[in-house]
Amino acid sequence: MKKFPKNFLWGASSSAYQFEGAINEGGKVPSIMDKFDERKSYPKGITGFKVASDHYNHWKEDVALMAEMGFKSYRFSISWPRIIKNIKGDINPEGIKFYRDLIDELIKYNIEPIVTIFHFDTPSFIEEIGGLDSSEFSNIFELYSKVLFENYGSKVNYWLTINELNMFAFVGQIIGVISEKSKSTKWQIMHNLNVAQAKAIRLCKKMLPNAKIGPAPNISSVYANSNKPQDHLAKLNFDQMRNWIFLDIVCRGEYGTWFKNFLKLINEEIIITNEEKEILKNSKPDFIAFNYYSTMTVEYASSKDSKNSLNNLGDQQSGFIIPGIGKTVKNKNLEATQFGWEIDSIGFRNTLREVYDRYQLPIMITENGIGARDVLTDDKKIHDDYRIEYYQKHIRAMSEAIADGVEMIGYMPWSAIDLVSTHEGISKRYGFVYVNRDEFDEKDMRRIRKDSFFWYKDLIEKNGENI
Ligand code: BG6
Repeated sequence: MKKFPKNFLWGASSSAYQFEGAINEGGKVPSIMDKFDERKSYPKGITGFKVASDHYNHWKEDVALMAEMGFKSYRFSISWPRIIKNIKGDINPEGIKFYRDLIDELIKYNIEPIVTIFHFDTPSFIEEIGGLDSSEFSNIFELYSKVLFENYGSKVNYWLTINELNMFAFVGQIIGVISEKSKSTKWQIMHNLNVAQAKAIRLCKKMLPNAKIGPAPNISSVYANSNKPQDHLAKLNFDQMRNWIFLDIVCRGEYGTWFKNFLKLINEEIIITNEEKEILKNSKPDFIAFNYYSTMTVEYASSKDSKNSLNNLGDQQSGFIIPGIGKTVKNKNLEATQFGWEIDSIGFRNTLREVYDRYQLPIMITENGIGARDVLTDDKKIHDDYRIEYYQKHIRAMSEAIADGVEMIGYMPWSAIDLVSTHEGISKRYGFVYVNRDEFDEKDMRRIRKDSFFWYKDLIEKNGENI
């Protein structure tokens, strides 16, 4: 095992719409996420994002808890609809102030703010130009990024562009980031997002030459279900589709031949202008951030094998079938969480290795973690030993990847404090800190330190040497 670097950024993550609540406070305008209850695909019987963990009104206390754990960094997203009021780009000063205060508070405790520009909560006013389907989207996104760079650029050293751009394409409907009214193909939307990302990178480099900026997709190794050559081919194809096309476009500046052939195979076309090609070629990131939860296992699917289900309603790793290419299957060698996500810490090492070998850029982990139905005991404790075990294994795997030669900047698992899952409510908890509320009973929102809180605090204090 290799030691973690001296200035390693230990911390954790959150996203605005899943954590802040206060959807109508402080001059915020609506986002696509505020309308979760109008979405056909949003499951019944679970809470939405109106109140969430009420971080908007608990932010000082929340930052103090992060400081108590010894965080060196905190990755959070800025809510676009809290900052910009309308399609003309008018700014909401209260929103600007909220994040300025938050950033100042983090810096007060020597916590490095790591800012995601856009994490799923598209402002509703974007519908006026046709939503993510519109080729205008990237310009509006660039203007919003400019406001962030102007206001926070002197204090924020690390920027992340768009959270899980690749998951917009795959599970966009279930997460709710792709409007049910959307007319474009998901690949056109993905392209529009790639252009928006490139414009933000280009602008960041121009306005903030000392800052660092990177993408934050969800990446995972893909395994072939057997050693049959056609299963290996399915693995290579899914690797491309799920991972590499999204990192190639940002790190290498173009879509590879595989992707162009794939679009023909599924009878889809995307419009790419010459100007966009130029921007994509000249907007390279400084590092790669990625979210890792699990690996994917696939086998070949013949062209007669059921119908195309790229419109996945499963999760990040399962439920995909592309006739002639492959389909996802369960990995019998792995255990799963209470919510059915396979747990694969060796896969984490493998994924880190693959990403580093391919792009040779420093890596930051911006999500990793276990969603579980934590139980508050009578003596007001949460004994989440399963979470400690999960982190132990994954952090050990990360240290082994460092020993393998992977250059790592930081680790910010999901999530700092409990928040609302994308589509499985507040009962699917991820935090080191418990928020005392249920799906529909908001109780007192009290913050309670879980056992994992004390474990992580100790690990950070020792810079991971006790792992
Ligand atoms: C990532 C997202 O996909 O996974 C987060 O970036 C999300 O927003 C996290 O919360 C866990 O997924 P879920 O569906 O359990 O909330």
